[in-house]
Amino acid sequence: MARIIVVTSGKGGVGKTTVTANLGMHLASKNYRVCLIDMDIGLNNLDVVMSMEDRVVYSMLDVLENKCRVKEALVQDDVFPLLFLLSSGGLNQNLTITISQIKRVIDELEPKFDFIIIDCPAGIDAGFRRAVSLADEALVVTTPHLSSLRDADKVVAILSTYNILSKRFVINRARGDLIQDKLMIDVHDIGRTLGIEFGGVIPEDDRVLLSTSASISNNKCALNRAFEILASNIITGEKKLFDCTYKYRGFFGSIKKLLKRKV
Ligand SMILES: Nc1ncnc2c1ncn2[C@@H]1O[C@H](COP(=O)(O)OP(=O)(O)OP(=O)(O)O)[C@@H](O)[C@H]1O
Ligand SMILES: [Mg+2]
Repeated sequence: MARIIVVTSGKGGVGKTTVTANLGMHLASKNYRVCLIDMDIGLNNLDVVMSMEDRVVYSMLDVLENKCRVKEALVQDDVFPLLFLLSSGGLNQNLTITISQIKRVIDELEPKFDFIIIDCPAGIDAGFRRAVSLADEALVVTTPHLSSLRDADKVVAILSTYNILSKRFVINRARGDLIQDKLMIDVHDIGRTLGIEFGGVIPEDDRVLLSTSASISNNKCALNRAFEILASNIITGEKKLFDCTYKYRGFFGSIKKLLKRKV
């Protein structure tokens, strides 16, 4: 039976979809059967991030409207045959989507996958509630900024009212140069603030836009290493830390820091 993990945050734009896509690719690269579900209904973009938008024929909405079967709506990744996407499709104002309808879809997928990863919409309204009520585990994505952390903290409190067995946080867009100079809140301090388990740290890196299933095998890329560690923490339950400050230590590190500030 699949582990069902919701990727949530409260605040919008902090990297939920990015984490969902990359985590899915890394798990599938380790031979796990992975289904990504876009629950950001109406504002769905997981298909675009996965470069699958041209191949989406049916969506979750079509399944709910009985226009197709669940397996017909799944899109298989080009590079990792064990990775699938169930896109949410556009908003149909006339359709009220209930938790039990989506649960039926998930119940059908559960025996076929090792991981079902749900990309949650921003906010804490109906879309959020639908997404989290279906999951057993949650990844709370936050950036190291106070506004994002405050929303993450509220989401952690709300999650405790759901039947979520495990809650981990992921710090996205961490800047090693700023953490090294104590200008950005430290990973351990974030852990103490949120009071949930550590899941992973993902550095700020523009290459996130280029990250595709074809490029994730590049071990030299810090972004790939960070997602690789996140995936292995999810699989094993370990709390390994990707150290994003390593580049900025010592003599050459100081020069890199100065250069980064000037950009
Ligand atoms: N580690 C990162 N480094 C650089 N840019 C990033 C990183 N993570 C995410 N981004 C960028 O931030 C933007 C928002 O990311 P994303 O869409 O994943 O956030 P989201 O939480 O899913 O947003 P929404 O709440 O709107 O669904 C995107 O342009 C993405 O490329
Ligand atoms: Mg998103």
